[in-house]
Amino acid sequence: METTLNVEGLQVNYGNVQALKGISFKVPKGKIVSLIGANGAGKTTTLKAISGNCKSAGVVVFNNHPITNKESFQLVAEGLIHCPEGRGVFPNLTVMENLQLGIVGRHSAKANFNKNLEECFVLFPRLKERINQIAGTLSGGEQQMLAIARALIGEPELLLLDEPSLGLAPLVVKLIFEIIVRINKDKGVTVLLVEQNAKQALKISNYAYVLETGKILLEGTGADLLNNDDVKKIYLGEH
Ligand SMILES: Nc1ncnc2c1ncn2[C@@H]1O[C@H](COP(=O)(O)OP(=O)(O)O)[C@@H](O)[C@H]1O
Ligand SMILES: [Mg+2]
Repeated sequence: METTLNVEGLQVNYGNVQALKGISFKVPKGKIVSLIGANGAGKTTTLKAISGNCKSAGVVVFNNHPITNKESFQLVAEGLIHCPEGRGVFPNLTVMENLQLGIVGRHSAKANFNKNLEECFVLFPRLKERINQIAGTLSGGEQQMLAIARALIGEPELLLLDEPSLGLAPLVVKLIFEIIVRINKDKGVTVLLVEQNAKQALKISNYAYVLETGKILLEGTGADLLNNDDVKKIYLGEH
């Protein structure tokens, strides 16, 4: 099986705090892989290190090329696109202007902008209705949709999603997870998903890793981890 992302011994220090203590994991091409874990486990740091947004030690290989500590703009150009925690939409720009920013630095996607925009509107009809609305006035769920849509405009080969369900109402959470599945199944995008919502994340994941204070504690298929007693107790609130 082809491996889109291979991470080996990834370490990140913030001053004298070691946020990642040498973690290793893989994302096979065409799959959804999740990292689950509590607040402060190192999930965001992992995505930032992969996407060139923080300094790290260790080896990160994307499509068979080492990318450790490459600049984020170089990685975007190669199709490694990070949808950050907190969405990162530009609140003073319109929905359309935010979507137009999705091709910045991703030259190969420029010619396909109109086609990709139409495909985004199929996935997110709400964004089409709100195309001229100022992004800061969208609901939290709509802002998350916009953040994902903007990432898709850049034709990701690997999409890094940081807590897309955070702070959203249950029905919107359900919708966001359905959309992640469609992005993976219909568009063939490989997804590395980071979530505190372990239950939903594991349900849609081919494979997952449990991160705790900078270390990987457990790994397995989504189904295996949903049935694991420790995961049930600690991350799913089941006893
Ligand atoms: N910029 C930073 N400076 C110092 N410490 C940080 C910084 N970012 C994160 N940390 C620390 O690193 C650890 C992991 O944080 P983070 O990756 O954000 O976790 P998660 O996304 O799983 O909640 C936490 O202890 C956090 O306080
Ligand atoms: Mg985080």
